[in-house]
Amino acid sequence: MTGLLAAGARAAVLALAGPGYESLARPLIFHLSAQQAHDGLLRVLRRADTTPGLVRLLAATRGLSAPPEPIEVGGVLLESPYIVAAGLVKGDGFAGEEEALGAVARGRNIMPGWRSIPALAGPVEFGSFTRWPRRGNAGVVVWRDAPTRSTQNRVGLRNPGVRAAAAFLARHRHALPRQFGINIAVSPGIEAPEQQAREVLESFETFAASGVRPAWYTLNLSCPNTEDDPGSHQTAEQARIVCGAALDVLHAAYSARPVPLWVKLSPGLAREQYQALMAVFAELGVQAVIATNTLACPAPDGEGHLAGVGGGRLHPAAVAAVAALADARAAHGFPVDVIGCGGVIDAASCDAFARHGVRAFQYWSALVYRGPLVAALIQRERSKQRR
Ligand SMILES: Cc1cc2nc3c(=O)[nH]c(=O)nc-3n(C[C@H](O)[C@H](O)[C@H](O)COP(=O)(O)O)c2cc1C
Repeated sequence: MTGLLAAGARAAVLALAGPGYESLARPLIFHLSAQQAHDGLLRVLRRADTTPGLVRLLAATRGLSAPPEPIEVGGVLLESPYIVAAGLVKGDGFAGEEEALGAVARGRNIMPGWRSIPALAGPVEFGSFTRWPRRGNAGVVVWRDAPTRSTQNRVGLRNPGVRAAAAFLARHRHALPRQFGINIAVSPGIEAPEQQAREVLESFETFAASGVRPAWYTLNLSCPNTEDDPGSHQTAEQARIVCGAALDVLHAAYSARPVPLWVKLSPGLAREQYQALMAVFAELGVQAVIATNTLACPAPDGEGHLAGVGGGRLHPAAVAAVAALADARAAHGFPVDVIGCGGVIDAASCDAFARHGVRAFQYWSALVYRGPLVAALIQRERSKQRR
C-alpha cells in the first residue's frame, strides 16, 4: 500500500515536472532571451535559499520524485548517478578578494542556489572557483539553440575566488547539502606551469583549511570561454604538474579520510592526448575524469568571440572523448572512472555514454530544456528501460 502511494505520488510529481514544464513553464521562459532567463534564475535562487520552509519543500519534492539510486564512482558513494555540472552554483563575480570577503562578512548570499538546487536536484558540483575572484565577461554571455537543445556561453569563469567561496561555505557549514563537489579551475591566462601549480595548490589549501569537506574535488583543466587556449593545460606534462600539486594538498589535509580528486577535460582533444592524460591520472591517483566541458565555437553575437557550446551540439564530441578515455582505461586497466557530461538530457543520451562503461553523468543544458527535475525524469526513463 505504501509502495503504491509512493508510486502514485512519484507519477504525479513527474507529470507536473516533465510535461508541465515543457508545455507551460518553458514557453514562458523562452519568451525571454537566454540572458534574461539566466539572470532571472539567479535572482530567484538567491531568494529561494533563504525563504523559510522552501528548501524543505524542495527536498520533499525530490524525495517523492527520485528514489535513492546509490552508486560508487570516482571514489565516492554517490546518492544518485546524475550530478548537476559546474557553472550553475558558482557564485557572484567580484573585482577583488577584499570586496568578495566583505560581501561574505556582511552575510550576502554570494552563491545563489547553494541550498535550493541540491535540495531539489540532488548532487551538485559547486564552482568553478579560481584562486582569485573574476568578474567574467560583460554583456550578453549566454544563448540557447532550441532546435538542437543546446546552450552556449562565454560567462568567462565569473566567480568570487577561492577565499570568499571557502569562507561562504564554511559560514554555512551546518546547512550544507549532504553531498556536493567543489570544482577548482586553473587560472586562465597563466602560462608558467610553476605559477599555475602554485595557484592550484593555494586554492586547494584554502578549501581544506576552511574545514569544508566536499564529497569530491574536481580540477577543471579546461577553460573554453575565457579567450585562452583551451588545450594548453591539458597536455600530459601540464596535467602532471597541476594534478600533482592538488593531490599533495589533499593527501596532507585529508590523510585520515581522503577526498577523491576528479579532473574535467575539454572535448576535441586528439585521441592520443586523452590516452596520455589517462595514463598520468592513473599514475597519480586521480579517481575520475569528467568528459567533457563545453565546445568552443564562434559566439552568436558575431563579434568574433568564442563561446562554449553545451547540450545536443556538444553530445557527439563528448561521447567521442569518453570513448577515447574508456578505451585507454580498458586497454591498460587504469582505475580511473569516466563521468559522461555533454548533452545528457534523456535515457538515450545516457545510453550513448553507458555503452563505454560510464555509470555517472553530469548535466547543465538539460535543466533549460526539461526543467529542474530532469534527473528524476531520466532516472525513471532508464529504470523503465531496464524492466
Ligand atoms: C552558463 C554555463 C556556465 C558554465 N560554467 C562552468 C564552470 O564554471 N566550470 C565548469 O567546469 N563548467 C562550466 N560549464 C560547463 C558545464 O559544467 C558542462 O560541462 C557543459 O555545459 C556540458 O554539459 P551540458 O551539455 O549538459 O550542458 C558551464 C556551462 C554553462 C551553460
